[in-house]
Amino acid sequence: MKVIKPFAIAAIALSTSVAGAIAHADATNPAVIKRMEAMKAIGGSMKTLAGMAKGEMAFDAAKANAAVATISEQGMMVPALFEANETDPETEALPAIWENWDDFVKKSDDMVMAAKGVPEIADQGAIGAALGQIGGTCKACHDDYRKK
Ligand code: HEC
Repeated sequence: MKVIKPFAIAAIALSTSVAGAIAHADATNPAVIKRMEAMKAIGGSMKTLAGMAKGEMAFDAAKANAAVATISEQGMMVPALFEANETDPETEALPAIWENWDDFVKKSDDMVMAAKGVPEIADQGAIGAALGQIGGTCKACHDDYRKK
């Protein structure tokens, strides 16, 4: 497996924390809140992994594997959570989602498959590869379907 370089880990960590910083707590549409919560859980898991990879957080194998599991579990709910074209002034979801629904579902599946494909993490050194494997799937979907 390709080992990703520290700068790549830093970039992933930065993009996940930026996403966290603009998380929208003010949405009022319950359907939109639900899908945001799922994304927050996914983002929080990536943050945990990035924190451990950078040594900012103590390595904990159970926590690392739980974070990967959260990404696949929450990821599996993404199509159902987004299927209804619900909106909210605070949403970052682009209308393109519902115009390209099959592609959106595919990109969600890609994330789930990437997370499921991560082997059991037993040491800190394995986290970089896991981040590399999953990280690209976030960007692939956000580039097309989330407001910048
Ligand atoms: C299939 C598409 C898709 C994938 C894959 C995806 N996202 Fe998202 N994400 C979205 C969309 C769409 C939104 C905006 C939702 C809204 O505001 O209604 C979003 C929003 C977010 C948010 C902001 C949540 C908030 O508080 O409003 C975070 C954080 C986030 N994603 C992290 C991630 C991470 C990390 C990954 C990869 C592990 C990921 N996402 C994978 C589509 C995706």
